[in-house]
Amino acid sequence: MPKLPEIKARPRAAQIFAAIIAGIIAVSMALTLGVIYVLLKLRIGTITAVVTSTTYMSIFTTVVGVGIAAYTSTKMLSPIVKINDAAKKVSRGDFTVRLEEKSIAKEIEEIATSFNIMVKELSNTETLRNDFVSNVSHEFKTPLSAIEGYATLLQDESLSNEEQATYVSRILENTSRLSKLTQSILSLSQLENQEIVLQQETYMLDEQIRRVLLSYEPLWEEKELNIDLALAATPVYGSKSLLAQVWSNLIDNAIKFSRKGGTLFISCGVFDGKVVVRIRDNGIGMTEDVRAHAFDKFYQGERSHTGQGSGLGLALVRRIISLSSGTIDLQSKEGKGTEITVSLKNEQQSVS
Ligand SMILES: Nc1ncnc2c1ncn2[C@@H]1O[C@H](COP(=O)(O)OP(=O)(O)O)[C@@H](O)[C@H]1O
Ligand SMILES: [Mg+2]
Repeated sequence: MPKLPEIKARPRAAQIFAAIIAGIIAVSMALTLGVIYVLLKLRIGTITAVVTSTTYMSIFTTVVGVGIAAYTSTKMLSPIVKINDAAKKVSRGDFTVRLEEKSIAKEIEEIATSFNIMVKELSNTETLRNDFVSNVSHEFKTPLSAIEGYATLLQDESLSNEEQATYVSRILENTSRLSKLTQSILSLSQLENQEIVLQQETYMLDEQIRRVLLSYEPLWEEKELNIDLALAATPVYGSKSLLAQVWSNLIDNAIKFSRKGGTLFISCGVFDGKVVVRIRDNGIGMTEDVRAHAFDKFYQGERSHTGQGSGLGLALVRRIISLSSGTIDLQSKEGKGTEITVSLKNEQQSVS
């Protein structure tokens, strides 16, 4: 969040205004005394001199004062009118308006700067929201069109049993994709709206990682991956179900982006007072561009894998780690592989 300028306690505009008024009073008093002196020198009676000079000087002061007041108020009010117009545009959804930041009054400059920062922030949120909606619609459309297509094909009564079975299984695959997508969107939106992790407990992290890895056995068997584990007995304090999603997403990616016969290395333990989990693959790795966007919602770098997953995995992982006050580090080289390191606080309580 950019820092907004602070409006100072003693505004410069007010000081200038006070100085102008004091100046007018001083000049008119000096002129009044001057005129009285001249009239007395001309031997005009004291009372007449005082009355005449005061009258002329009152007229002079009024004219000059009104003139200066009209000039300064127009000068001062015009930026306020502009701010008002700009605020009206923003309220109608136009986030392109910006105010001129140069002004005679520092306070106006500060208001203009804050206003511009505010509109920029608002437009960012709006863009994110629009992107999110269009991404969600797009992600839903693909499996829905596939389901519609296969269901239409199934209406053909001349299909062989094998063809029917294939189409039904395609429909089921796409249904499961939709259901996983919905699950991920719901989890992510729920996690984004919560600030604390509920139901934390101390449990054995190495056991959890082993269990998650086993649930992916069919996938790493199919890819003939070598599994290299260095899992030290490590108690950790945190949300068991949320952290399970972290390991599951990271292991899923490591397998998915590995080449046949590759190696998947996973370690966990306590280092430098932190619980550290490392997941490394020697698969396809990431380009600089993919690395920069890997944690973005719906971002999928590898075109050939877009059918698997929805680009929400790493966004979910990052949110869970941030809620758990941990850190995540990503190292990756195109063609060489990827290493993800997650560090969590080492707050142990008795293992349940
Ligand atoms: N271990 C990895 N090796 C190479 N690229 C990866 C790895 N993990 C993630 N990525 C890249 O980051 C992108 C985002 O990952 P993720 O959010 O899990 O989405 P998904 O797995 O659904 O594609 C992936 O599409 C891929 O391009
Ligand atoms: Mg993934």
